[in-house]
Amino acid sequence: MATDLLAQKLAETFDLSDDEFAILLESDSFDGELRRLADNARRSYYGTDVYIRGLIEISNYCRNDCFYCGIRRSNRYVARYRLTKNEILSCCATGYELGYRTFVLQGGEDTFYNDDLICEIVSAIRKLYVDCAITLSLGEKSHQSYKAFFDSGANRYLLRHETASSEHYGKLHPPEMKIDNRKKCLFDLKQIGYQVGAGFMVGSPYQTTQDLIADLRFLQQLEPAMIGIGPFIAHSQTPFQYFKSGSLKLTLRLLSITRLLFPYALIPATTALGTIDPFGRELGILAGANVVMPNLSPLNVRKKYELYDNKNCTGEEAAECRHCINKRINSIGFNLVTLIGNVKKR
Ligand code: 5AD
Ligand code: FES
Repeated sequence: MATDLLAQKLAETFDLSDDEFAILLESDSFDGELRRLADNARRSYYGTDVYIRGLIEISNYCRNDCFYCGIRRSNRYVARYRLTKNEILSCCATGYELGYRTFVLQGGEDTFYNDDLICEIVSAIRKLYVDCAITLSLGEKSHQSYKAFFDSGANRYLLRHETASSEHYGKLHPPEMKIDNRKKCLFDLKQIGYQVGAGFMVGSPYQTTQDLIADLRFLQQLEPAMIGIGPFIAHSQTPFQYFKSGSLKLTLRLLSITRLLFPYALIPATTALGTIDPFGRELGILAGANVVMPNLSPLNVRKKYELYDNKNCTGEEAAECRHCINKRINSIGFNLVTLIGNVKKR
């Protein structure tokens, strides 16, 4: 097949061979076409709507030691914090006032929050905000724990697979962490009934084109409702401090390819993308993303949740952040919607 039709073939058939994906991934000559087609695909499901989710970073304690992550347990320089149930509820209250209808509770794998405590927090939010989605992003747990959170009122769960290749996974994580468990967690979550979010970093150390293709293939198996893709950014207090960051171009290319593979998906323009380029989030939306996740965490803890260096929006009040994002989204011809924004099934 003539390579100039590859992007079109992807848009029409929702698939390509590995060799064809490799051609798209390794060249920048398809980027304009990919962006145009991804924009069409997104518009056919979601129009110009961009959904807004309020991110509450509940704890930066983590029992894991991922080599890329700034809050890994070996980083002795992090000032650790935990939000109380009341602090979390007060973030939700601020968010609700500002129009947020999805609250994302994200944290390191912190055993302080046992299942009972998480269920108590989720139930309290559920009771107060019947019209909101509750998204959890608290790492790997047992099927039983995930089920308990779901029964307490959680609807969605974000757990990036990070990389689908077990060899590459082993280069990003200590030996006790296994890709098979991560994948099992994702399938458990789906089976329980969550809208599931998977995803990966672009340009993480040692990543190859074949690894990226494996990521796309894994997503095809899982068919997640949400797909988080952002550039790797080095954190100066991690073993990966000297690696270079993932590129804007390749991240945007993957956003477009992912949109074409999963036209129905909810795909965020990530904070990491906004961190490597001042216009990154807007470019992400133009490339096919349709979700933004501004920070609702209390101002005094934001700096402490630094997964990577120079993380964006750690100084703005939730309200300021909300309005600045609104203006920026409007400036590129899209509109922020404060609806619950569930996935549109095929
Ligand atoms: N650069 C970019 N993204 C990172 N994450 C963690 N550390 C980094 C980093 N250094 C991402 C991971 C994780 C999500 C919450 O943040 O993909 O799943
Ligand atoms: Fe916390 Fe990776 S360092 S999950």
